[in-house]
Amino acid sequence: MKIPNHVGFILDGNGRWAQAQGLSRSEGHQAGFENLHELCKYILKKGVKVFSVYAFSTENFKRSKQEVDFLMNLFVKGFKKYEKELNKEDIKIVFSGIRKAPLPKDVLRVIEEVEKSTKDNKSGIFNICINYDSQWEIVDATKKIVEDVQAGKLNAEDINKEVVNSYMYQNLPPIDLLIRTSGENRLSGFMLWQASYAEFYFPSIHFPAFKAEDFDEALEVYNNRDRRFGGINEKKNNS
Ligand code: IPE
Ligand code: IPE
Ligand code: MG
Repeated sequence: MKIPNHVGFILDGNGRWAQAQGLSRSEGHQAGFENLHELCKYILKKGVKVFSVYAFSTENFKRSKQEVDFLMNLFVKGFKKYEKELNKEDIKIVFSGIRKAPLPKDVLRVIEEVEKSTKDNKSGIFNICINYDSQWEIVDATKKIVEDVQAGKLNAEDINKEVVNSYMYQNLPPIDLLIRTSGENRLSGFMLWQASYAEFYFPSIHFPAFKAEDFDEALEVYNNRDRRFGGINEKKNNS
């Protein structure tokens, strides 16, 4: 069984899951956050080295104040819990996204604390995308590149894909398998640069109900995909 090095995950369907059970959207987010905790440990134990999740997009600030406030409080409590548990598993937690308002100060503080206390962990990377949009990530990387060229720290001729990658919010390997729950077939701004050659998988199940065995199924689908990277699979095309 081939294990993808980097798995990207768009956590979608908390609201629909809750609605189907007669629960509030907040209860759906709570259930999603608890599920993520278990799933993250499972996925990294399987041998996946990097697990990136889309927890909150820049566009999600369009939702009601009540929902946004609930999610921000959940992040503060939840990230501290993840830190405690994932430190034991030697997992490094990093964050991708725009680090300024409208993200509340207490969320920004927790982000910094969690990154600092897990920075030396070596068994895997858990990358949480919050206040994230990949077009903004590319804009921000471009600005930093221009600054470094103007300051004489970087030669324009030396810019290549690896260099650009190193200017992203986190310097991560390409995504191999990208999963979005809830049956939506779109990226909604998630990791465009990193997902260039990713295999996409769109199960209809809502995120709070997506369990370890559903990930195993995703792995099976992934193993049956023919990743050619623009080449030709000699074994399958020998005529
Ligand atoms: C994903 O679930 C979590 C976030 C975007 C924060 P949704 O809240 O988008 O759930 P649906 O899509 O409304 O069901
Ligand atoms: C994408 O989900 C963002 C996250 C999962 C954090 P949305 O639910 O916000 O996306 P759309 O609105 O369906 O595109
Ligand atoms: Mg959604």
